[in-house]
Amino acid sequence: MKIILTGDRPTGPLHLGHYVGSLQNRVALQHQAKQYIMIADLQALTDNVDNPQKVRDNVCQVLLDYLAVGIDSQLSTIFIQSLIPEIAELTIIYLNLVTVNRLKRNPTVKTEMAQKEIESHVTAGFLMYPVHQAADITIVKADCVPVGADQLPMIEQANELIQSFHYTYKTTIFPHIKAEIPKTGSRLPGIDGKQKMSKSLGNAIYLSDTADVVAQKVMKMYTDPNHLRVQDPGRVEDNTVFAYLDIFDPEQDQVAELKAHYQKGGLGDVLVKKRLIEVLNTVLEPIRIKRMEYAQDMQQILNIALQGTEKVKAVAQQTMSEVKNAINLLY
Ligand code: TRP
Repeated sequence: MKIILTGDRPTGPLHLGHYVGSLQNRVALQHQAKQYIMIADLQALTDNVDNPQKVRDNVCQVLLDYLAVGIDSQLSTIFIQSLIPEIAELTIIYLNLVTVNRLKRNPTVKTEMAQKEIESHVTAGFLMYPVHQAADITIVKADCVPVGADQLPMIEQANELIQSFHYTYKTTIFPHIKAEIPKTGSRLPGIDGKQKMSKSLGNAIYLSDTADVVAQKVMKMYTDPNHLRVQDPGRVEDNTVFAYLDIFDPEQDQVAELKAHYQKGGLGDVLVKKRLIEVLNTVLEPIRIKRMEYAQDMQQILNIALQGTEKVKAVAQQTMSEVKNAINLLY
């Protein structure tokens, strides 16, 4: 059976972009594979050095989101990164197998450094997070990581590390990692029409947003900037409202009719947005209700992650003993 590892940095509650990009996929995969889901609190610290409270608070928010969308702790193993020190230990071993120049060339890291304007003063911790990530994956010997296309360089680097580890220590303990881009992984634009929904761009609709907040956000959504009067023909391409209807509206025939009407002229943005509000709230309402139920007992929620962590702990210790055996570090 496939062994999957995925995870999220707990830097905020999860949003609709996560939902279509990974959460729905995880709910499906948990029936077909052994799935580990890691809350990457240590990785979150790499770009929140001075804000540990934010990370700590969001561990629980992310947990609530997982359970509310239907990730089942009987089928998936949810765990907390910082509680598995073996991951950090394995990271230290991997760090000898990669050059600083190679780390600086990782395209995902390069893009992030440019976005955050930290090229000249990047910390060692940030620069090496792909190595840490390779340790996350290999500590449970995962052979499959569902990722967005922008994370492919991470998997490539992890496979290089595995190869180098195998070659250097004459062993073959780790499986090759396959990156699997989820079929449902359509990338959701932000409400501002920008390429990607993201917390840092401030253009997200959260799974925990109330119906009113969702309505307000949809009303602000980017449409066709040249569609000024209702009678004008409008564009449905690059129109965020229609992009969302394509993904979320179960009545696709109606969407096709709305599009035709909009393109011809005579259909105002407000009507289309009203339809989208209805559709999104239908998706979000059951999630919201479950989220509120779970939030009644946060200790129990945390316990779910702690129990998952116990299971991972046993696997991690086994992996580390094989690693140390290969390096001849057994005393
Ligand atoms: N980098 C991922 C994020 O930013 C989180 C993560 C950490 C992860 N380690 C991982 C994802 C290993 C997949 C595999 O959300």
